[in-house]
Amino acid sequence: MIYKTSLMILFLALFLSMAGADTGVVLRRLIEVDFVNKLPPNHNVSVHCKSKDDDLEIHVLGPHQGYGFQFYDSLLGNTLFFCGVTTDFGHGVYDIYTHRRDADRCTKCLWEVTQVGVYGFRKDSGSPDIYFRWA
Ligand SMILES: *[C@@H]1O[C@H](CO)[C@@H](O)[C@H](O)[C@H]1NC(C)=O
Repeated sequence: MIYKTSLMILFLALFLSMAGADTGVVLRRLIEVDFVNKLPPNHNVSVHCKSKDDDLEIHVLGPHQGYGFQFYDSLLGNTLFFCGVTTDFGHGVYDIYTHRRDADRCTKCLWEVTQVGVYGFRKDSGSPDIYFRWA
C-alpha cells in the first residue's frame, strides 16, 4: 500500500514537472530577424532596430551582407521591434516584428533591402508578402 502511494506520488511529480516544462516552451518562442543587403554594388545599408526595452545600435551592411538578431516573443505579450533602414535610395522606419502580425507568419523573418524598398518574407516563402517602399 505504501509502495503504491509513493509510486503514485512519483508519477504525479513527473507529470507536473513535464507540464511545467511544456508551459515554458509554449509561452515564448525564439524569433530570428534577418536583413540582407540586396542593393547594387558599392551601396551600404544601415539598420537601427529598437524595441520598448532594447536599442540594438546601428549596423552597416556592405553589399550582400546580412545582419540578424534573436529574441523571445512572449505568446501573451505585445512584442514590437521597429527598425530604421537607411540607403542611398531612400530611408524609412518600419515595424519589422510585431506579435500580432508575425506570430503565425515567421520564426525566421527575412527582410531584403532593395533599391525600391524593404521586402518581408513569410516563413519558407520564396516571394515577399510585405512591401515597404521608400516614402
Ligand atoms: C560601406 O561601409 C564600409 C564599412 O563601414 C565603409 O568602409 C565604406 O566606405 C562604405 N561604402 C560606401 C559606398 O558608403
